[in-house]
Amino acid sequence: MKYDKEFLEYVDDILKSPEFKKRMKYEHHENESVYEHSMKVAYSSYLFAKKHNLNKRDISIGGLLHDFYYKPWKEDITKKPLFKKHGFVHAREALENSKKNFPNLMNNRVEDIILRHMFPLNIKPPKYKESWVVTMMDKKCSLNVLAHPKAWSAYLGLKRKKVKK
Ligand SMILES: [Fe+2]
Ligand SMILES: [Fe+2]
Repeated sequence: MKYDKEFLEYVDDILKSPEFKKRMKYEHHENESVYEHSMKVAYSSYLFAKKHNLNKRDISIGGLLHDFYYKPWKEDITKKPLFKKHGFVHAREALENSKKNFPNLMNNRVEDIILRHMFPLNIKPPKYKESWVVTMMDKKCSLNVLAHPKAWSAYLGLKRKKVKK
C-alpha cells in the first residue's frame, strides 16, 4: 500500500512510537493485526476526508488511535461482567492510552473519534462528521469478522478463546 505523504506526516509520531509498534503483534481479527487494521481505517478515513473536505489531520490521528487499547483482547481471559468486556470498554481505554502516549496530538475532535468509534454498541453517538466517518470505516474494515460468525461472540467478548502460545 502506498500512502500519501501528507497522511504519513500527520501520523509520523504515532508510527515511530515503540508502544504503537507493539500492535503489529496484537491480533485484531482473522489474520490481521491491530496495526494493519488501524492503518486501513485511518487511511481510508483520510482519503474520505480529503475528498469531502473534512479535517484530514484529526481523522488520520483519531483513525490510527481508535483501537489503541492496552492489551491484546484475546489474551484477556479474566472473568468480567458483560459491560466490562472488550467491545464495551476498549474505546475508553484507547482514549486513555492515547492521552498518555500522545498528549500533544489530542483535541476535542480526535478524542471524540476514538471514544465514539464503537457506536452503536457504545450508545452515545459521535459528535463530529469525522467521528462518524471513522465509525463507518471501522465497520467496513471489520467486515471480515462478519464473514466469520463464530468470531462475533469473541469480538464482543462474550466467549473466551484459548490463547495459542
Ligand atoms: Fe474498536
Ligand atoms: Fe477498529
